[in-house]
Amino acid sequence: VSFDLVIRNGETVTATEKIRQDVGIKDGQIVALGTGLGVGRKEIDATGKLILPGGIDAHCHVEQMSSSGIMTSDDFYSASVSAAFGGTTTIIPFAAQHRGQSLRTVVDDYMACAKPKAVIDYAFHLIISDPTDAVMGQELPAMIADGISSFKIYMTYDALKLDDYEILEVLSTARKEEALVMVHAENHDVIRWLSEKLLSQGNGDPKYHAVSHSRIAESEATHRAIALAELVDTPLFIVHVSSEEALDEIRRSQSRGLKVMAETCPQYLFLTAKDLDKEGMVGAKFCCSPPPRDEKAQEAIWEGLIDGSFQVFSSDHAPYRFDETGKLAAGPNPNFKQIANGVPGLEIRMPMLFSAGVLGKRMDLHRFVEVTATNPAKIYGLYPRKGTIEVGCDADLAVWDPEKEVRISIDMLHDNMDYTPYEGTEITGWPETVISRGRIVVEDNDLKVDRGTGVYLKRERSSAAKPSGNLVPEVNSQLNFNAKIL
Ligand code: URP
Ligand code: ZN
Ligand code: ZN
Ligand code: ZN
Repeated sequence: VSFDLVIRNGETVTATEKIRQDVGIKDGQIVALGTGLGVGRKEIDATGKLILPGGIDAHCHVEQMSSSGIMTSDDFYSASVSAAFGGTTTIIPFAAQHRGQSLRTVVDDYMACAKPKAVIDYAFHLIISDPTDAVMGQELPAMIADGISSFKIYMTYDALKLDDYEILEVLSTARKEEALVMVHAENHDVIRWLSEKLLSQGNGDPKYHAVSHSRIAESEATHRAIALAELVDTPLFIVHVSSEEALDEIRRSQSRGLKVMAETCPQYLFLTAKDLDKEGMVGAKFCCSPPPRDEKAQEAIWEGLIDGSFQVFSSDHAPYRFDETGKLAAGPNPNFKQIANGVPGLEIRMPMLFSAGVLGKRMDLHRFVEVTATNPAKIYGLYPRKGTIEVGCDADLAVWDPEKEVRISIDMLHDNMDYTPYEGTEITGWPETVISRGRIVVEDNDLKVDRGTGVYLKRERSSAAKPSGNLVPEVNSQLNFNAKIL
């Protein structure tokens, strides 16, 4: 016996190549690629199947409290199981700092939650809501050295928002540490002002969530975040982009040579603001921030994903059930400000994009692999261990049946939700066998591993976070910024 596992007769697909070859796996790694490989202790026949790198979902919320104190329905067990059933083998959720907390405490808490439960590998981004001198000067560098090389900041939500001064402090620290800053870009006061006007006129239904989170709130904040990042020459990653106006800001900055990266999510391809206008409180199921927009925005977002303006496709899985533990925690008829923001999507992220994008002939198969696995691995410091298929990589693979017809429904998903926003959607293609570090996690529609068998991934600093060195003249000459901190 030469291998622990051999996958025969499939076609491996990476960001650049599609090859009919067998995959030999030993001690959790891919050790051989080619035809005529020796015998494996276990063998999988992948005739007619695609062998894709396991997906990396770089944006999801697991065992995290919402800004209004509501817990996500998924813990690290249900979230990781659900991810695995959808072809994802690595998740990067958030360790969220509440004001006053030390980053060490925050990370230790999330680690303690994840370790006994996760069935696939995981890493963390920090959320920084309290950038004190001690946090930025000592705590953050220590966390980065421990493998948390990216962190998210918010421009909205009372409990999380940073002002522009704080954002500049965070960006310049990130520059020095070569950590990647992710930003939730929405203008807080625009949302607050619109919300107050709407509520004072008695307009509290879920659909007004989408009105209050105006596209202008998103595009203005996107522009401002990019401007602040340009001022201090720090790469920036814009999360969950929903609108063509924000995408335009991103494109403009990229064409000027700035290191601006961005992601979009299933809700911006497959939902619209009309979904928030359903009967009674049903619209609450679709309240997320930024909100889904309209068909024209969907088209623009597809375009950005295909043309490379977006580098990453993440779920932004933020699961709150449609009951008193989640969306209806404030009572049976909450106004839109009282509805927890977020939609689930860990399990459907890859299959829905594969079906509508690849089989729908909008997106090349290699591009699909790039935005769901390879790019997130590269941008977040996991490459080449994760995100591709090569000798020496972790054997994280999804054996994909490109012909399987699936009707999405809450009954067939494995998260701990009581609804899916995509109920009834018919798609084609689903991962049939999912492998993490050579372990078969999902096979025959069954979970094959125990809780707590996923491992924590200490991430490298990413080249995506390296400053370009192009400083605007006023900062360069007046502050001698490069000499001081590079
Ligand atoms: O509505 C959303 N996306 N909630 C999750 C938190 C966030 O800002 O990503
Ligand atoms: Zn966000
Ligand atoms: Zn602009
Ligand atoms: Zn999020």
